[in-house]
Amino acid sequence: MAELTRVGIAGTGSYAPERVVPNSEFEKTLDTSHEWIVKRTGIHQRHFAAPDEATSHLSVVAAERALENAGVDAKDIDLIVVGTLTPDYPLPSTACLVQDRLGAKNAAAFDLAAACTGFVSAFSTGEAYIAAGRAKHALVIGAETLSRVIDNSDRTSCILFGDGAGAAVLSPLSECGQGEILETVQGADGSGYDFIHIPAGGSVKPASQETVEMREHAIKLRGREVYRFAVARMSELIERMLEGHDPEELGLLVPHQVNRRIIDAALDRLGMTAEKVVINIQEYANTSAATVPMALDEGLRAGRIEKGQLLVMVAFGAGLTWGACKVRW
Ligand SMILES: CC(C)(COP(=O)(O)OP(=O)(O)OC[C@H]1O[C@@H](n2cnc3c(N)ncnc32)[C@H](O)[C@@H]1OP(=O)(O)O)[C@@H](O)C(=O)NCCC(=O)NCCS
Repeated sequence: MAELTRVGIAGTGSYAPERVVPNSEFEKTLDTSHEWIVKRTGIHQRHFAAPDEATSHLSVVAAERALENAGVDAKDIDLIVVGTLTPDYPLPSTACLVQDRLGAKNAAAFDLAAACTGFVSAFSTGEAYIAAGRAKHALVIGAETLSRVIDNSDRTSCILFGDGAGAAVLSPLSECGQGEILETVQGADGSGYDFIHIPAGGSVKPASQETVEMREHAIKLRGREVYRFAVARMSELIERMLEGHDPEELGLLVPHQVNRRIIDAALDRLGMTAEKVVINIQEYANTSAATVPMALDEGLRAGRIEKGQLLVMVAFGAGLTWGACKVRW
């Protein structure tokens, strides 16, 4: 077997739509309060896409920023993978729209359905393609317009979500010289498929007047069960990524942002503090596949990691799915 190519992170980019929606917006129509939302989730606000912005538009801005940051031309990208649960259309893929608008003429493009784990799965896929010599430069994206699939009458779920996009350009380490991907893991447990799901609009229950009336095209959550799963899985994944390393080697931890309390509880289990953790849920809420790349971009641009330190990303979500990546910066 040919030797695997070592892969690095050449650049990152992110984008949040302009419109900021504070918690107080929900107080107008629901029995909820800014105080409850902050105390139970850590969320202060979220960004919602404009009516003429879809997931592909957010993706393109994040991707352009990542390409610029990486110094890679769109024509040199040979793979685009978009992790999303809110594609522009059921058909074709959002990745194809992104490919066209970027002018990435030489890229293969497809979407990946792993919900909140979407970016980490896209990242693992991009890394595997480059490692195996099937691609040279991969553009991996996590992007969502969750504002289009929330049930505004359900106070237990609609307050949790926001819109946004994040992207990374992956390249051979010999070219980009930074961020070597050391390990990626992915997993799933489909027996929990209904912990977080959208009941209608697929082949089980195609769209009908009834499904619209029953709000079955919106996200349904079993919040407490997800909470327990999330704390356990997040702490296990962090522990796994740091196995065999001195805890001091960790430079930056980028976790999926579902609930501030979930992050704190996972850190608590591991006896870790939040000092090296990127937490931006207060500003963006849960943007599903976009939380990890948005937080990654924020942490890197703020210079929060030094050369040689470890960067760990962890995500989990509907499916159930989960994944993690370990990078030597
Ligand atoms: C949803 C979540 C914030 C709820 O927090 P919690 O502390 O577990 O709260 P509970 O579900 O125990 O609800 C406590 C009470 O607050 C109420 N409540 C729920 N949402 C509320 C809101 N927005 N405002 C005010 N009260 C609310 C509940 O109805 C419940 O009332 P009751 O005690 O009279 O029944 C939390 O469970 C969570 O973050 N879960 C994971 C979310 C998720 O699945 N995200 C997507 C996956 S990636």
